[in-house]
Amino acid sequence: MRHEAISLIKAEHRSLSAVLGALIQVVRKAEESGKDPEFKLLHAMLYYMREFPERRHHPSEDASLFALLMQRSNAADEIIRELEAEHDQGEAMLNTLTVALSTWEAGRPQGVTGFAETLKSFSEFYWQHMDKEESKVLPLAEQELTDEDWREIRDMFAAHADPLLGKRLGDEFDALFSDIVRMTPAPIGLGEPKKS
Ligand SMILES: [Fe+2]
Ligand SMILES: [Fe+2]
Repeated sequence: MRHEAISLIKAEHRSLSAVLGALIQVVRKAEESGKDPEFKLLHAMLYYMREFPERRHHPSEDASLFALLMQRSNAADEIIRELEAEHDQGEAMLNTLTVALSTWEAGRPQGVTGFAETLKSFSEFYWQHMDKEESKVLPLAEQELTDEDWREIRDMFAAHADPLLGKRLGDEFDALFSDIVRMTPAPIGLGEPKKS
């Protein structure tokens, strides 16, 4: 049960990380070539980076992993408070990134540079956040949580139900992720490299 729950959490981190890596690749290519990227693809990626964590990943962490760990031990209180604050901070940073994308798309001078710099801060922040969860919270959880706790976490991450709409979200996000991979140019994605 414990391994299943941890694998599900790490798999979601890998999806987020893959989209961040693909975003960076697309922007780097645009900077190098001086040509506009497929803005539709960048919008899809930002949509994923907003909706998937906001509606699925972060609420599941807050409601299961973090809540249960705080019930069992005080050892993780400080780091969990930090991570919860980062969930809000990530949302605010994503708004800034979305504005930077519009600025670039509108053809403003320095649009690509501004977006690339904002993306650099955002991705570093995100990778650090996920690393803290994997290197600090999960090991503490492995010490403190019971089998029943892990079952609850597993069920939470496996169900992917939207708490507001009561509907399953897994299929929607899996389809979106596949679209992103299909549209992203090789070698990271499956799409054709953009012709010049
Ligand atoms: Fe998180
Ligand atoms: Fe996470």
